[in-house]
Amino acid sequence: MQVKSSIIWRMIAWFLLLALIPLGAVVIFVQRQVNQTVLNVELQAAVREARMHAAESAYHPDAFEQHTQIYEGTTEVAFILGTDGTYLAHTDQQKIGSLAKNDFTAEILGTFFSNESGSLNNGDAGQIIGYAAIPGQNSVMVIVKDNQAVQNTLNSLSRSIFLQLSVILLITSIVSGVAILAVINPLRQLANFADQVGSGNLDATIDQTDLEGEIAVLADSLTSMTARLRDLINNLESKVDERTRDLAIASDVSRQITRVLDMDILLPELVEKTRQGFNLYYVSLFLYDQQREELTLQAGTGTEGARIKSEAKSFPINSRPSVVAQVARECKAEIINDTERSTIYLFEPNLPDTRAEAAFPMLVSDVLVGVLDLQSKTVGRFQESESQIFSTLAEQIAIAVRNAQLYRQQEHVAQELKRTDLMKSQFLASMSHELRTPLNAIINFTQLIAMGVAGPVTDEQVTMLNTSLSSSKHLLQLINDVLDISKIQAGKLGLYIEEDVNLNDEIKAVVDIAEPLLQKQNAMLEQPIRFIQDIDHDLPLTSCDRRRIRQVLLNLLSNAIKFTEQGSITLSVKNKGKEFIFAVMDTGPGIPQEMQTRIFEPFVQATDDIKHTQGTGLGLPISRSLVQAHGGKLWVESKMGEGTTFFFTLPFRTSITQ
Ligand SMILES: Nc1ncnc2c1ncn2[C@@H]1O[C@H](COP(=O)(O)OP(=O)(O)OP(=O)(O)O)[C@@H](O)[C@H]1O
Ligand SMILES: [Mg+2]
Repeated sequence: MQVKSSIIWRMIAWFLLLALIPLGAVVIFVQRQVNQTVLNVELQAAVREARMHAAESAYHPDAFEQHTQIYEGTTEVAFILGTDGTYLAHTDQQKIGSLAKNDFTAEILGTFFSNESGSLNNGDAGQIIGYAAIPGQNSVMVIVKDNQAVQNTLNSLSRSIFLQLSVILLITSIVSGVAILAVINPLRQLANFADQVGSGNLDATIDQTDLEGEIAVLADSLTSMTARLRDLINNLESKVDERTRDLAIASDVSRQITRVLDMDILLPELVEKTRQGFNLYYVSLFLYDQQREELTLQAGTGTEGARIKSEAKSFPINSRPSVVAQVARECKAEIINDTERSTIYLFEPNLPDTRAEAAFPMLVSDVLVGVLDLQSKTVGRFQESESQIFSTLAEQIAIAVRNAQLYRQQEHVAQELKRTDLMKSQFLASMSHELRTPLNAIINFTQLIAMGVAGPVTDEQVTMLNTSLSSSKHLLQLINDVLDISKIQAGKLGLYIEEDVNLNDEIKAVVDIAEPLLQKQNAMLEQPIRFIQDIDHDLPLTSCDRRRIRQVLLNLLSNAIKFTEQGSITLSVKNKGKEFIFAVMDTGPGIPQEMQTRIFEPFVQATDDIKHTQGTGLGLPISRSLVQAHGGKLWVESKMGEGTTFFFTLPFRTSITQ
């Protein structure tokens, strides 16, 4: 808040302006009244004078001559007018005998003879005229006074009054302005002071030397209010500092504990950190066993903690006296600031110096996990204001303990699952292995029968035997896949690496198997799918498990054929020096983004429409594992509606051991 001096000057200006208008009006009114009064007096004087001269002239014919001396040296004129309109006598001798109509209008001349006596104001000529008939004579006595001079005097008089009044007004205004300033300046000082305090500067001061009366009292109370405010804030700040420090310790403890999942490490660390952070004598933590309704000391600080732990057994929740048991029973914090006066405090010989104890329930969603117990050597150590922080800390610890417990349970479940999974894989592996031998026998014998080795067979029988043969081969393929994935999951998949493998030959062998599959597919389509090969010639001989590489390539090609219904399929194999890059690209439906990682999991298929779900969903996980076993990578790039490309790399190796 700033009171500017320009405001004061503006106030004075307004005051002057507002005062001058009525002042002007008053002056004009007074001037008018005075003029009128003076005029009336003048008129009456003129007529009185005329009557007096007329009366004297009636009795003394020479009277006029004598009286004219009065007018000598003045601007006034006196004359006697005959009824014929000539001057019979005149203060100006030369006018005698001349006609008065040269000096006055006919109207004025007529007036002179209309009444016994009278007066008139000849404003145009600035004259005051008094006239009176001379008794007994046919003539009239006229006195003409010059009114202009009187008017001029009156005007200058009113001007000087106006001026004087204005000066008085101005002086009054300045005096009141100065008086206002004398009040406003200290007020302004006070306002500035209040402003500074308001904007947070509690060290602001006010110079009281020039202040008096109520303003000085006001300044006094403002100063003392500021001092009190400063004290309050300082007090508050130190309290906030304390709380912030406590909170920082509590949050530090909680932050560190939530990272630890092993309770044997977590709990001793936690009690020690709490003891140090809050400068306590002893901190311990009890866990509650819901089924047994018992509390067990899990961790206590220092050697005392270790000793008590080794001695102590679990104790029931309804033990008395026991602060910890009471807190567990009531799920409510308990603060004992003087242990000697408490009935529930239980003396612990290992902690002889305890003088105050505070225990807080550790709750997770209202379920008791345990109790956090704090002990101090100082009577009155635990203030009500701190208990919120300890309660929060106890809750955080409860969550950390619960997490650790859940983690432990989860770990157990995970181990169980792993064991079951291993058993399942072993079962599948042995089952598949057991199934393969009889199935191979079925295939071989069926083939022999179809060839007529066991006696003649009809064409119809051959057809049926071939159908049975292809179903058996499909089943064998399935069993082989299950066996592979089981071995992979059991970590027992071994490669049969050979040196000097000619990849061009292997690729050709796969293409030879894939092409008939494509032709079969094309036979059902209006527009056949083109098969494009972009394979580097003379790929260098390398070491690999050629049967497995063929298996991978065949799976990718058969997938492309299975899912593509238009466009083309391109097989590209490039020699990149250190590795070979294989790519099988199709213009099929594409694989949704969210499925592009999942299809590498066993038994997962990207779509569930029947047409595209033939198969078991094992091809890709097996292929990826086989490629990885060779030290390569297998990945997919796909866009819905545009197509899919599967890539895999195979490191170039000159020998098995390399
Ligand atoms: N070229 C492709 N175009 C579109 N989807 C594909 C393509 N290749 C694979 N997929 C999707 O990935 C799924 C998994 O393929 P994968 O080869 O593992 O299994 P499968 O071909 O369904 O069965 P299996 O190979 O065991 O006979 C397929 O079911 C299909 O949904
Ligand atoms: Mg497949």
